[in-house]
Amino acid sequence: MYEATRFVALPPVANRNAKESSMCGIIGYSGPRKTTAILLEGLRRLEYRGYDSAGIALGSGKSLRIVKTVGKIAALKAAIPADLEGNWGIGHTRWATHGGVTQINAHPHMDGSGKLAVVHNGIIENHHALRAMLEKKGCVFVSETDTEVIPHLIAQYYKGDLLEAVKEALPKLQGTYGIACIHADEPGRIVGARNGSPLVVGVGSGEMFLASDITAMVAYTDKVIYLNDGEIVDLGVDHYSISNREERKVDKKIDQITWELGSIEKGDYPCYMEKEIFEQPESIERALSGRLDAENATAKLGGLNLDRRQLSAVGRVKVIAAGTSWHAGLIGCQLLEGLARLPSQAELASEIRYRNAVVEKDSLWFTVSQSGETADSLYAMREIQRKGATVLGICNVVGSTIARESDGGIYVHSGPEIAVASTKAFTSQLAAFYLFSLLMARMRHMAREDGAAFLAQLQNVPSLVAAALKQRDLIQAVAKKYCHAKDFLFLGRGMLYPIALEGALKLKEISYIHAEGCSAGEMKHGPIALISGEVPSVFLISDDYLREKTLSNIREIKARGGPIIAVGVEGDEEARRVADDFIPVPHSDPRFYPFTMVVPLQLLAYFCALELGRDVDQPRNLAKSVTVE
Ligand code: M6R
Repeated sequence: MYEATRFVALPPVANRNAKESSMCGIIGYSGPRKTTAILLEGLRRLEYRGYDSAGIALGSGKSLRIVKTVGKIAALKAAIPADLEGNWGIGHTRWATHGGVTQINAHPHMDGSGKLAVVHNGIIENHHALRAMLEKKGCVFVSETDTEVIPHLIAQYYKGDLLEAVKEALPKLQGTYGIACIHADEPGRIVGARNGSPLVVGVGSGEMFLASDITAMVAYTDKVIYLNDGEIVDLGVDHYSISNREERKVDKKIDQITWELGSIEKGDYPCYMEKEIFEQPESIERALSGRLDAENATAKLGGLNLDRRQLSAVGRVKVIAAGTSWHAGLIGCQLLEGLARLPSQAELASEIRYRNAVVEKDSLWFTVSQSGETADSLYAMREIQRKGATVLGICNVVGSTIARESDGGIYVHSGPEIAVASTKAFTSQLAAFYLFSLLMARMRHMAREDGAAFLAQLQNVPSLVAAALKQRDLIQAVAKKYCHAKDFLFLGRGMLYPIALEGALKLKEISYIHAEGCSAGEMKHGPIALISGEVPSVFLISDDYLREKTLSNIREIKARGGPIIAVGVEGDEEARRVADDFIPVPHSDPRFYPFTMVVPLQLLAYFCALELGRDVDQPRNLAKSVTVE
């Protein structure tokens, strides 16, 4: 697959037309350990993806036992009889799409005989037609889900060989799936198939795993095989084989996961989000590691898979991304424009995906995604690739679909990000853009001394971020003071405008307080009408040419009675005086304030959410990896 810090080109992926998948989680296990515990632990590790019900199917002897519940894994655990054990099994966390959040709709689903169980991520688009056809054949459906057609369909072809039955059934399914199936009569066997929804095989010693996400099995094995769309895996306790749609056996490389188990544990922190915020000095360090070329005052990015001539021919840069990754893209584009004088533009994936976008011959595209699985970003990327463009990835999750389908790219190496609200991935994505901008600038107009100065400051970012984190207690007090406000505004200019957007997104995601991010200069064109004594405004004040302008914007709000929280540069006494509350960040080259000024906003959102008693790591209605439209 990939070298540690490189993206490499991959063989073409089969079904590029697949439409959607879902955010549910899958775990399967076949081996000598206590299966119930392995499945529950795997599901617990998948909790971060977002879900509303869960279930397991356990095989023992020649029968299957199913337990499903609405709510958290703890509820599932409580519902499992103490003596329930099995030799192999599958488990699932469901995020409802077709049919309400009920126990019956939770997975696994079974065929009429109760011998065949299936868990499914994705959406079966022709489920109405299949259901009608299967009902005519006498199948009785119990749930409202699209998934239930799968076990009934496979059962139609079952003649004692689960793999053969799955192979016959798959061509009848339209839509997306990652599935894991078991049959009571075939102890230890799990058959999985992928089409548009991730599935990874975990190779243990004398045991095998199948999961939608490696976090579910990283506690047991560090050897994984990423399935491509169109591939089917047949696994038992100590063997596996993978074939493709053409029924040919596929020889796949086993990848080694480099994560430590500790990286997916909370450690001494109460929440993953706090842990991940405080990990930023190290995660940024990792993103930069091995990529700074001090001798030539530039950056080394081998995974781009582009030589100097190809890079020099780039005339413009376009970025596709969603949410926080889009905010990183907005900053990256400002930097590329300023530093490398390259016209650059960041597009929302959900918008560009349905536009007939112009793809200029000299454009280089990036898809930025922490998870590497975001449906909007993935499908937008495929469309742009279809138009002939080179699309690079800036991804965190190694082996993710975007990382594998892009033409090269930059892994950001933040380490696993478990909290739904993205924090450390964001600053590492910024680091990737800063490296790429330096590389492009040095190939164009940037003098060696300027490159060396920029590089030295980039190297210093982890210490600056560590210093910004020292304001933890002050920020907690500010959060206590303002967390009962119903609305917040976040304002910044230049590179701090996307940081304002990011601050507002963080706050609304985890505290459920309404927040809007605005360009400070745009205030007077409308949002100023919102100002009152009850609406705090969080201002980001750099110490560059935009400082005076931002201070004027603050005064406009003060004059209308709006409370001001200012995030500014240490020693800026005027900013401190004009604000009701002032949060300092260390002084640096203004181009690096996005790294330090986002930190107080992450902490502000975090402490507001904590104060309001919210579920910080798994906020309502959100999923870590948004694989539906
Ligand atoms: O995995 P991605 O970076 O592609 O995810 C994109 C957005 O869904 C994501 O950034 C989302 O906005 C986060 N919850 C932000 O905290």
